[in-house]
Amino acid sequence: MKSVIFSRFFILLPWVLIVIIMIDIDTKRTFRSPVSARQRSQRTTAANLSALPVIYAITPTYNRPVQKAELTRLGQVFRQVPRLHWILVEDSSTRSDLVSRFLARCGVAAYTHLNIFTPRRFKRAGMPRATEQRNVALTWLRQHRGRKDAGVVFFADDDNTYSLELFDEMRSTKGVSVWPVGFVGGRAYERPLVVAGKVVGWYTGWRPDRPFATDMAGFAVNLQVVFSNPRAQFKRRGSQPGMQESDFLRQITKVSELEPKANNCTRVLVWHTRTEKPHLANEPKHRKDTVYIEV
Ligand SMILES: *[C@@H]1O[C@H](CO)[C@@H](O)[C@H](O)[C@H]1NC(C)=O
Ligand SMILES: *[C@@H]1O[C@H](CO)[C@@H](O)[C@H](O)[C@H]1NC(C)=O
Repeated sequence: MKSVIFSRFFILLPWVLIVIIMIDIDTKRTFRSPVSARQRSQRTTAANLSALPVIYAITPTYNRPVQKAELTRLGQVFRQVPRLHWILVEDSSTRSDLVSRFLARCGVAAYTHLNIFTPRRFKRAGMPRATEQRNVALTWLRQHRGRKDAGVVFFADDDNTYSLELFDEMRSTKGVSVWPVGFVGGRAYERPLVVAGKVVGWYTGWRPDRPFATDMAGFAVNLQVVFSNPRAQFKRRGSQPGMQESDFLRQITKVSELEPKANNCTRVLVWHTRTEKPHLANEPKHRKDTVYIEV
């Protein structure tokens, strides 16, 4: 009797093993490492990158103790964005070595380095900033890109904090798109109010009377809109601080035409950060180090 049970056992054993192996293979297939939607979309787009509109990120910058640190922080984000062309515009009479060297090794494949000096009479408190730099970048685009180029223009100041998701959102901009901007250091933010998929106004703590109560980092413009409005630019004359965005946007769009991004403007994907001004009083007045180090 025992020997019969044994022989049955040995006949069944290989089959049992096969079943166990099959189950194991199947569970391995099911429990692969999770892949985020973003990674998946990157994989599919990687196969067809040339189909993506180029994001032209326009960044005005000026020489100051935190400049290289800010640009490094920004460059490390931009180098991860597919098909991004960085237009960096220095407020200076020449292109500086610091910024040239930085751009050459920052890892952003496509960039353009421009410069224009802001006249001294405009460099006063209460005056809008970086007007000339943004306009020079718009002129460059109008001269070097054409009707056939698919692109999206975005004004990316060098002191903000950008989520990579923001670039996925803005890339599909058909006309002018908007989204919320967070202000670091509180609960404050500015947000386009969206009803039934349409922008109807603004949630903001500051000057809600502005026609477009958004920050420079709160909108993107399709490149073709830049061509259809060849005279649209940032204004010095008659523009108050905080009105630059409104004065520019009213030249190219209407509030009712804005495209809400970031989940109907309910997610913050960019923050208006401010780097603390460094206190240099305790630092040596002149370099004491024996080697020259660029900071
Ligand atoms: C790449 O994108 C273009 C435009 O969207 C499309 O026509 C083409 O078929 C795509 N190519 C591949 C290999 O997916
Ligand atoms: C935004 O709102 C519209 C209208 O309510 C809706 O159809 C659409 O799916 C929403 N979009 C997102 C991304 O939630």
